[in-house]
Amino acid sequence: MTLDSLQLLFFKNYEAAALQFAPGLNCFIGDNGSGKTNLLDAIHYLSLTKSALTAVDANSIKQGADFFVVKGKFSAGEGTDAETIQVSLRQGQKKTLTHNKQHYERMADHIGRYPAVLVSPYDTDLIREGSEERRKYFDSLLSQYDHGFLDVLMAYNALLRQRNALLKQAADRPAHGFDRDYLLAIDDQLVPLGTGLSQQRAAFLERFTPIFQQHYQQLADGREEVSLTYKSQLLDTDFDQLLRQNERRDLVMQRTTTGAHRDDFVFLMDGLPVKSYASQGQQKSYAIALKLAQFEILTSRLTTAGTGAAKPLLLLDDIFDRLDDKRIARLLELVADDTFGQVFLTDTNLARTDRALANVRGDIRRFRVQGGTAAQL
Ligand SMILES: Nc1ncnc2c1ncn2[C@@H]1O[C@H](COP(=O)(O)OP(=O)(O)O)[C@@H](O)[C@H]1O
Ligand SMILES: [Mg+2]
Repeated sequence: MTLDSLQLLFFKNYEAAALQFAPGLNCFIGDNGSGKTNLLDAIHYLSLTKSALTAVDANSIKQGADFFVVKGKFSAGEGTDAETIQVSLRQGQKKTLTHNKQHYERMADHIGRYPAVLVSPYDTDLIREGSEERRKYFDSLLSQYDHGFLDVLMAYNALLRQRNALLKQAADRPAHGFDRDYLLAIDDQLVPLGTGLSQQRAAFLERFTPIFQQHYQQLADGREEVSLTYKSQLLDTDFDQLLRQNERRDLVMQRTTTGAHRDDFVFLMDGLPVKSYASQGQQKSYAIALKLAQFEILTSRLTTAGTGAAKPLLLLDDIFDRLDDKRIARLLELVADDTFGQVFLTDTNLARTDRALANVRGDIRRFRVQGGTAAQL
């Protein structure tokens, strides 16, 4: 699957833009603040229906405008029909997503169909931030990998919201008593969903970890041993039992204090936490290896799903700034040897980009990005 063209209206710092892409490598070159990352974010919208940078979609509407449109034409190769994906948002209204002008019944049905992997300067946040960031990352990855997982996750989260609302209501209105039967009825449904989520995450990590380790070794060429472990109470204690044990605490805290929403993914280097033990360079490699492993595992899923040689889009934001020459060379080897499909990368310096890509064969297209405009060079 390649993205053949992108059209923007009032998206971030773009008023109107139209770009035609090469099926191989596309480079966005421009100064800081010119709008390079915003182009990658527009592609992220097409793939995942949301921004990689902000949780508030309205932030993506150009200042002073009252709507944005991001439209992309995908194709699966010569002789196939183009597929048009459009995401739009009008101020104060719900975001809409269409595929060939048809609305999806559920926006979630889109997830995983046009996968993209973003390698960004913010990736190391995954290492530095709390467990929620990591859970979100792996849940999003798993949702693209296996649609059934996303269904279970959404059902679990909806029940969890109901449960927490009930706990809060019990605290806010003590005189009305507490509807324990309702709580138990919610828990009856929550238990299998939560247990399923934890089991699926654990099984996924077993497949993912060796791929990740291999990418780390290739990229970092170090002797350090990296690993990923998954921590969930639900794997060794029955979820129902945990909910009963913590019922009183949950009532006091007014929220559900155990469950799959509390699981964590632990990043280790030589058995120690990456966050405190690894150097900055090692942390960057760790984060990029996660993304490359994500790319590989999503590619394997697309291949087994029978969509031919489809590969996720790869979005590389400011990689030349962040990696030393040796690591860049290793990454570009992967670009050169057809490991990747269509690639979009950003850089501030055209000469540096051209130098780095001197040995990369195939169709390379460069765009000059300047103050919210993008023109092919
Ligand atoms: N909603 C918005 N309206 C107008 N400008 C925006 C909006 N969101 C972001 N921007 C602007 O986009 C610019 C950053 O673009 P970005 O793509 O991150 O630049 P870079 O080329 O450095 O990657 C900033 O100047 C920022 O103010
Ligand atoms: Mg940027």
